[in-house]
Amino acid sequence: MTSSPILEAIDLARHYRVNRGVLRRPATLRALDGVSFVLSPGRTLAVVGESGSGKSTLARQITLIETPTSGDILFSGRGVDSFDKSEWPELRRSIQMVFQDPYGSLNPRKTVGAILGEPLAINSTLGASARRDAVHEMMAKVGLRPELSGRYPHMFSGGQRQRIAIARALMSNPRIVVADEPVSALDVSVRAQVINLMLDLRDEFHLAYVFISHDLSVVRFIADEVIVLYLGRPVEKAAVETLFETPAHPYTRLLIASTPRADNTARRERVAPHGEIPSPLSPPSGCAFRIRCPFAARVCEDKRPELRPFANREVACHRVEDIAG
Ligand SMILES: Nc1ncnc2c1ncn2[C@@H]1O[C@H](COP(=O)(O)OP(=O)(O)O)[C@@H](O)[C@H]1O
Ligand SMILES: [Mg+2]
Repeated sequence: MTSSPILEAIDLARHYRVNRGVLRRPATLRALDGVSFVLSPGRTLAVVGESGSGKSTLARQITLIETPTSGDILFSGRGVDSFDKSEWPELRRSIQMVFQDPYGSLNPRKTVGAILGEPLAINSTLGASARRDAVHEMMAKVGLRPELSGRYPHMFSGGQRQRIAIARALMSNPRIVVADEPVSALDVSVRAQVINLMLDLRDEFHLAYVFISHDLSVVRFIADEVIVLYLGRPVEKAAVETLFETPAHPYTRLLIASTPRADNTARRERVAPHGEIPSPLSPPSGCAFRIRCPFAARVCEDKRPELRPFANREVACHRVEDIAG
């Protein structure tokens, strides 16, 4: 693939001030730190990690909903800070989001036709009948019968509703789609259909995807590259085959080991890695994973491991040479 990058994130961080009651000073919660990546058209970057690892925070930075505490986002090679005020609406339209909950993210008072037609009504000069045609065409593309455009969101199943949410995102003609747990709320039986649809649409529209999920079996199927987050920091970044075939970071290994295989229908519940996730307000010194890590040594207590190249990927682990490869 030689498509030039559409978006680049450089050392992104997002910290929040949180109040801890009148007697204590506000603390800094490092929801995201040191995240860098490149997105290219036709490719999927997956972001994985347990709840609280900073996945949604990352989504809010990429979609320009929030401003990172530090770091840079380049769109088509240009820092988003350098975009003129008049260019921002177009920039925002280029980066669309699909949320986990297709119930909460669609206006219940509007018909599907109105929901999908809205971006065109705002951003295009198309007349009403051309807009209706475009809506019907998009409905067909996401596998919904155009005759249903007069219906309201509650009249559709969860999977159909997620198709509507995807269609709505595409009506803005985006370059990038950030999907935050897009199939996690859906029945297992419809997940594969929605994922396959997303892959088809990615290729048809030459989209770059950021696919956020805690479900590694889905990630293995859809991703080209994966970033594993732990307490806001990347611990491993690799091509999908590399990550699943030879996971290097102890946390990645635990995540993969505890993922039920697709062929093992009897054991569907997820087993979390042993130990609790530490409070993000007072993470352990050195490596934040060390208190759950079977390989932790003195150095892990003293020094935070930086992401560095190891065996065709990047890993943040002092001991990776001893334990992997
Ligand atoms: N607006 C906010 N203010 C304070 N803390 C926040 C805010 N948003 C997220 N956090 C905290 O940041 C961390 C990462 O959250 P989040 O990005 O939602 O993780 P994930 O999506 O991986 O579950 C969590 O500890 C969460 O409580
Ligand atoms: Mg989240």
